[in-house]
Formats: sequence, structure tokens, C-alpha cells
Amino acid sequence: MASHSFKTAFRSTIFKKFSMALTGLFLVFFVLIHMSGNLLFIVGPQAFNEYAHALVNLKPFIYIIEAVLLIAFIVHIWNGLTISTGNKKARPNAYAQLKSAGAPSKKTISSTTMIVTGMILFAFLIIHLISFKFGPGFNPDPSYTAMMGEEPIRDLYKLVKEKFASPLYAFGYIFTMLLLGYHLRHGFWSAFQSLGTNHPKYSGLIYTTGIVLAVVIAFGFLVVPVSVYFKLV
Ligand code: HEM
Repeated sequence: MASHSFKTAFRSTIFKKFSMALTGLFLVFFVLIHMSGNLLFIVGPQAFNEYAHALVNLKPFIYIIEAVLLIAFIVHIWNGLTISTGNKKARPNAYAQLKSAGAPSKKTISSTTMIVTGMILFAFLIIHLISFKFGPGFNPDPSYTAMMGEEPIRDLYKLVKEKFASPLYAFGYIFTMLLLGYHLRHGFWSAFQSLGTNHPKYSGLIYTTGIVLAVVIAFGFLVVPVSVYFKLV
């Protein structure tokens, strides 16, 4: 009986939304750190490669961080998909028109398109990891090797520069980072709603913080593809 009610609670929309909110906020924290680290690209090859190398060398912590990240992505994506298919079952005929629910509600086009932007971001993530994390230089590869003193390290700077010289990559990333900003803006607000912090005193602050974070993260990530493609670095 107890296990039955546990299963029911586990499958409930409230539980799913709660875990989506927690994992979503954790992922916001991750992208903010990742974006800040990427800005070292502007400083130069040495700074960027040594930073990436230092991260990879944070063993065993890096494995723990990667495992937590993987779990967060899986929980977030899985619950997003099941909540959205659950919503569809409850309302088999989609709204004829997507439009804002108006002033007091924060339901906008971005809230109803979260699943679409989320799926594009998921596809992006797979391509991104194949290109950069497991791409050239993952296994010792002399053409993607830089030096840190005497020690050979991965030349991620070269890899990033090569990738973003291609218009497909550069504009694909630029487009996806704008979508990421869009996804984050609504997601940040929505996470606090799901966690029950919708007190009128704070709602304005949370909404504005979401917008600021989304703009900072999206534009911060745009720096690398834009500066490489337009040969600013
Ligand atoms: C212009 C935008 C971006 C650039 C230039 C970039 C660059 C990189 C690079 C070079 C790596 C490899 C690090 C290494 O193996 O040492 C990496 C890893 C990664 N990136 Fe990005 N990234 C960008 C945007 C994003 C976004 C938006 C996300 C998430 C939605 C993301 C998620 C990840 C993840 C999960 C890893 C693997 C981390 C790990 O396992 O240690 N990246 N990125």
C-alpha cells in the first residue's frame, strides 16, 4: 500500500514539476559557470586551454559533477516530456492560437513553447558533446595538442576556432543560444512558481531576475561564436 502511494506521488505532476524546478535551477547555475569559463577564450589560447585542462584534471570531483549533471539533464528532460504529453492527454485538442494569457498571468508564448525549445536544446547538447567533449583531441591526437610547460594538453582553443569558422556552426550556435535565453527566461520564473514562492512581494523580482539571467547567459555564450566567425579574435 505504502509503495503504491509512493509510486503515485512519484508520478504526480506536482512531484514532476518540483523536480523539474530543482534540476532546472541547477542547470541554470551550470550554464552560468560554463558561460563565464568560455569567456576566457577572448583572453587567448593559453588561458582557455589551461582552464579546460584544470577542469578535466579535477579528478575525482569532475566525475561527480558530470554524474550529477547527467542525472539533472535526464530528470529535467524526462519530466518535461511526460508533463507535456500529460497535458496533451488532458486537452487533446490543442489551443487554436498561442497567445499571452494577459497581464496578471505569466503565461506567454515562451511558456507554451518550452517543450519545443527544450527539444531543440537537447539536440544541440548531443551535437555539442560530440563536437567538443568527445571530438578531436579527446584521445591523444597530435594535431590537437597544445603545451602547458612540458605537459601536452588538449588544444580546445584550436577546435573551437575551427568549428566556428563554419557558418553552419556559428549561426547554428547563435540561433540556439537565443533559444536558450528564451527557454531560461520562462524556466527561471516557472521554477519559482513550482517551488511555491509565488508571493506577490517577490514575483516582480523573480521575473526580472529571470530576464536578466537569460540575457546575460545568451549574450555571454554568443561572444565566442560571433567573435570567431567575424574574426574579432
Ligand atoms: C557558445 C556556446 C558554447 C561553447 C563555445 C561551449 C564550449 C564547450 C567546450 C569547449 C566543452 C568541452 C570541455 C572539455 O571537454 O573540457 C564543452 C562541454 C560541455 N558543454 Fe558547452 N559550450 C557552449 C554552450 C553550452 C550550452 C548552452 C550548454 C548546455 C545547455 C553546454 C553544455 C555542455 C556540457 C554538459 C559539457 C560537458 C561538461 C563535462 O562533461 O565536463 N554548453 N562546452
